[in-house]
Amino acid sequence: MPVTIRRATIEDMLCMQNANLNNLPENYLFKYYMYHILSWPEASFVATTTDDVGGPADATLEELAACCEGPVSATKGDPCYVRSGEKLVGYVLAKMNDDPSQPSEALTGHITSLSVMRTYRRMGVAEKLMRQALFALSEVYRAEQVSLHVRQSNRAALHLYRDTLEFEVLKVEKSYYQDGEDAYAMKKTLDTEALQPANFQRGAEQDDLDSDLLEDLVREGVAEVEA
Ligand code: ACO
Repeated sequence: MPVTIRRATIEDMLCMQNANLNNLPENYLFKYYMYHILSWPEASFVATTTDDVGGPADATLEELAACCEGPVSATKGDPCYVRSGEKLVGYVLAKMNDDPSQPSEALTGHITSLSVMRTYRRMGVAEKLMRQALFALSEVYRAEQVSLHVRQSNRAALHLYRDTLEFEVLKVEKSYYQDGEDAYAMKKTLDTEALQPANFQRGAEQDDLDSDLLEDLVREGVAEVEA
């Protein structure tokens, strides 16, 4: 069940909105997703999988009959599927700060929303989505820092932001959410070099470009014979 992290596109937006509606009480109009993707097309990411995909084998007789008349698949109309064969399991919606009421000397990115579908949680998907977004905000949009808000009661997200990704808590914003709950306002200073994706993908392994594989094999073989 491999999960792929890739940049979000216009085609993903319905699925992102669907995931948001499933996972969070903070929901947005469709045009707000559009605004993010059109204004900062390299800042938002989705996690998708080809797991558990419906197809002709799963289709009902009616759907199979409909296939004869056009390109209809069993997943048509399912808001979890970006396209037949690709299911969205998580997203991060990010942007640069464009709020005139929050002026800042430093170029500031902002994480608007993050969520992972329930059955795909605790597998590192959110961490990977966040690391990609932080790197893109820093490298592409030159963000020097990034901000976000999180509910005080959201233990999972707090752990991710504060402990895993090392955001700092700036302050508590009283009654930030519509239901009256307080939010932690968080911030992280960005360092493009430190955020390089390679640092988090088997970073401990270093390619040895000096040694010759064939010579090494011969040397090991000789050593084995001598032993
Ligand atoms: N309790 C405690 N720690 C947790 C939990 C949990 N329920 N879930 C994940 N974590 C920890 C993991 O152990 C991991 O810690 P580690 O680095 O020490 O090993 C870290 O958080 C990252 O875990 P991931 O597997 O990457 O997180 P996951 O893919 O499960 O997604 C998320 C976490 C996004 C919070 C998910 O639970 C979710 O979608 N929740 C509902 C939506 C939500 O709350 N979104 C965030 C709102 S704030 C905002 O959008 C700006």
